Amino acid sequence: GHRPYPHCGACLDLGHNCPFRCLCPDHHTVNCTNRGLTRVPDSIPLNVRRLLLSNNWIPWIPADFLVLYTDLVYLDLRNNSLSQLEPGTLSTSSRLVFLDLGCNNLTEIPSETFEESRSLIKLRLGNNPYLSMVRKNAFVGLTSLRELELQQNGFTVLDVGVLEPLPSLQVLRLEGNPWLCNCQFAKLFMWMKANQHKLPSGIEGLECSLSEDGHRIPLKLLSEDSFKDCTNVLTLTDYLIVIFSGISASVAAIVASFLLASTVHCFQRLRKGTKTDEEDGYN
Ligand SMILES: *[C@@H]1O[C@H](CO)[C@@H](O)[C@H](O)[C@H]1NC(C)=O
Ligand SMILES: *[C@@H]1O[C@H](CO)[C@@H](O)[C@H](O)[C@H]1NC(C)=O
Repeated sequence: GHRPYPHCGACLDLGHNCPFRCLCPDHHTVNCTNRGLTRVPDSIPLNVRRLLLSNNWIPWIPADFLVLYTDLVYLDLRNNSLSQLEPGTLSTSSRLVFLDLGCNNLTEIPSETFEESRSLIKLRLGNNPYLSMVRKNAFVGLTSLRELELQQNGFTVLDVGVLEPLPSLQVLRLEGNPWLCNCQFAKLFMWMKANQHKLPSGIEGLECSLSEDGHRIPLKLLSEDSFKDCTNVLTLTDYLIVIFSGISASVAAIVASFLLASTVHCFQRLRKGTKTDEEDGYN
């Protein structure tokens, strides 16, 4: 009758308890998908790496919810009722590789949300119909990010500056947004032209409209010339962003055509002047 580990049941519970109504198929996975949860679960094992919370009714995540789960690699919050992200929620999740916040009710991505998310490779933010604002510096820190999903949101415009701190970006989904083809959009349009290889189906399938409820125009029918009245609106910084996005050739062409136009103009004036002189000579 020798029992080597008399308290083993308790030990196991301490190390590997599974939250109520969730499944824990292995020591690193907590699966609470489709459990009708209206808040984030308690008593998640500290060594959790995969946390699946999709298809619930979770309306918010406490800012300190993830603080203890520093091994977290995969977090799925798809199809919940999140309307905002508390500042600092991801500040201890530097190992996170995959984050799905798609199909929620987010309205904006605040500054510095992903400051510590240096391991994040895939970020899904699509299908948030009211998501219309990405704050300056929102994506700073996402140095490993390869895939960013912003499709089927409420964007009428997106400041290309927010895409600057994404050196590893390979795929960006932008389709299904109510883009407005105005001068603010011109910068994004030029970015899209220069980075078509990052858009899953290129410029095809993307549209913008002239007014909020206006007729949609396929972007493939537009060219940089369509936005030529906007050239004065673009600042030097915008040009630099565009140039470093690899479109320097077309900016150079615009500059060249300006120079050419003014040269021709001067040349004509010069000829006119000469002619007048000649005419003067006859008198
Ligand atoms: C979203 O979650 C709800 C509630 O769990 C579920 O009924 C619905 O089928 C889910 N939708 C999708 C597209 O998975
Ligand atoms: C989603 O957000 C919008 C705008 O903030 C709000 O009007 C709507 O009630 C929200 N819907 C849900 C299901 O929370």
